[in-house]
Amino acid sequence: MTSPNASCHLCGSDLHVFADFGKMPIANGFLTEDEFENEFFYNLAVGYCYDCEMVQLAELVPPEKLFTDKYPFFTSSSRNMIKHFAEMAEWIAIDLTPGAIKRPLVVELGCNDGTLLTELRAYPEIRTLGIEPSTNVAEIAIINGHNVVTEFFTEGTAQGIVEEYGQADVIVATNTMCHIPDLHEVFKGFQVLLKPDGYIVFEDPYWYAITAQTSFDQIYDEHVYYFTVKAVDDLASKYCFELVDVLPQAVHGGAMRYVLGFNKQHRPTSRFRYMHWMETKMDWDNKVNGDTFYQAAIYQGLDLAMSLVNMVRKDGKRVVGYGATSKSTTILNAAGIAPNILPYIYDTTPQKQGKFTPGTHIPIRPYKEFKDDDPDYVLLLIWNHAEEVLAKEQEYIAKGGKFLTHVPYVRIMDTS
Ligand code: TYD
Repeated sequence: MTSPNASCHLCGSDLHVFADFGKMPIANGFLTEDEFENEFFYNLAVGYCYDCEMVQLAELVPPEKLFTDKYPFFTSSSRNMIKHFAEMAEWIAIDLTPGAIKRPLVVELGCNDGTLLTELRAYPEIRTLGIEPSTNVAEIAIINGHNVVTEFFTEGTAQGIVEEYGQADVIVATNTMCHIPDLHEVFKGFQVLLKPDGYIVFEDPYWYAITAQTSFDQIYDEHVYYFTVKAVDDLASKYCFELVDVLPQAVHGGAMRYVLGFNKQHRPTSRFRYMHWMETKMDWDNKVNGDTFYQAAIYQGLDLAMSLVNMVRKDGKRVVGYGATSKSTTILNAAGIAPNILPYIYDTTPQKQGKFTPGTHIPIRPYKEFKDDDPDYVLLLIWNHAEEVLAKEQEYIAKGGKFLTHVPYVRIMDTS
């Protein structure tokens, strides 16, 4: 495939690029009309490294273009995510920082608006510290009374934290590690920051959940890496860490929680050994996984575009979008879906309302106007929040409203 010069961002070996989605704008780059002319584009392609086994973007967008003072993603925008973080806080308190540890320190990388830190308040013996480079979201966490360091996490940041707060009992990161190109620097920071018997916990979209349901819209500029158990284990081993447990999660359309410690500090679970063995059987060497995924992704995009064209042009129906997500930037651009077939998208985030989607320039309307609209179909761009949305939109469904989804394949959802 293309990008013959692509190399692994972690080990420098050649990258086998198996999926190329072409020219793409910044996924969270929601913009105003006067910004259309100078919109930034890059080439969105994914490859696999035969040496360190990491699935990753071939071309990277500089992080300062992504995590700015206008970063529009707020963890607390979903009720399900708040529930997820409440459960995670309980698990951290009970399983990872048992009573014997006095005033344990939990450090969260990419704490965003402080949703997890807030849930950890239910356990007053735990001390917390957030790290968040996007100043506008960090500000919300700070206003809510959390301690936050507003910088990218490096070995130097870790040293500063240790001097001020001591070493951490738990380092946690949710949907953050996959965003960081230089994971070597992060692992060096972990070596400094983590207590010898502490835990590192991170969860991110799981590559085999993405392939299993062809959710190729999870692939975008911020998601540099698409982790697997084997690739995480391999990377961790370079820094004297080992994976001790893996816990599949339903959030973000299928994520994996990785639990690591310094070598020989904790006993690896049989669940981890089983997942490692399962992945070994996936056999990347035959190249089938990546190629099959790419074909399915291209078909899904075409199918969605053709379905919308038929609904709108042939059947005269009105379809609107629901959820102006980062993910939707990939599917809308890859499938060439423009305002002529999807005239606008509703979203609850005030920072996105009144703006336009990256690349496709579809207007974003405030969610509160949805109640007075009566479209024939709603394209559910937040398919990962389907349960929450369908529960919320019972009135629309009762009136005969229908939801269209594209994951794992294009169809009208059964809401009966
Ligand atoms: P998410 O899937 O977390 O986004 P991303 O792909 O960017 O990671 O969805 C967050 C976006 O969806 C955010 O813009 C708010 C919007 N949203 C709604 O408009 N309505 C809802 O009911 C939910 C849960 C989210």
